[in-house]
Amino acid sequence: MNIISAKNYSDLSRRAAGFIAAQVTLKPDCVLGLATGSTPIGIYRDLIERYRRDELDFSRVRAVNLDEYRGLAPTHPRSYAFYMREHLFEHVNIDEDDCFLPDGLAEDAEVECARYDELIEELSGIDLQLLGLGHNGHIGFNEPGDAFIPDTHLVTLSESTIEANSRFFDEGEAQPTSAYTLGIRGILSARRILLVVSGASKAEALQSALCGPVTPRCPASVLQLHPDVTVIADEDALSKMGL
Ligand code: GLP
Repeated sequence: MNIISAKNYSDLSRRAAGFIAAQVTLKPDCVLGLATGSTPIGIYRDLIERYRRDELDFSRVRAVNLDEYRGLAPTHPRSYAFYMREHLFEHVNIDEDDCFLPDGLAEDAEVECARYDELIEELSGIDLQLLGLGHNGHIGFNEPGDAFIPDTHLVTLSESTIEANSRFFDEGEAQPTSAYTLGIRGILSARRILLVVSGASKAEALQSALCGPVTPRCPASVLQLHPDVTVIADEDALSKMGL
């Protein structure tokens, strides 16, 4: 595991964007596994700037997102499909037909999960998976539990995750309580993984993930088993690592 210490959020964003840009440059038709949340926003902004400077070409890139709320249409402003268009897809030359997310409105959750895993297989897997980290150690929406769940599945979100994500919803606005997420096998099958973590509030989760036991109680700890993980974290997030 390669751990890169960034000075602050903007340094983290620049370094992580550079990492993704290198992937796209080396393999222009790569499959990027993408994530949502606050942390990747600066990375996407930086990628857009690189695209505008003609340094990056997304025309052959395929994008597969980690997760999506159940019950939200892709046009819903709080859906992850909307987030991805707003923060990246609309601003670069990626083909929207090559951008995939679980369908929040799918009638049959089981069928949708199987479809998503098959789709990733058809794309020959993910070259680079970008991950954020939840305060409780979740990755994607793989919440702490008794066992790692391998395949794409529907999750009932934990109170703490609903609370952490409530900042994206207006007061009184209904917030989804379940979501689709790539499972742990799906994440670990990616050829390379880039974990980005910012802020002191994530320091404990990051320490458990990287230095604690590999346990489904801290889903991100499973990344210790992957042969090609790069962590880019700012000094605040690394403050409990004793580096
Ligand atoms: C959400 C997303 C995750 C994300 C995590 C951390 O629950 N499903 O994919 O990594 O939150 O988000 P943030 O970067 O906003 O702290």
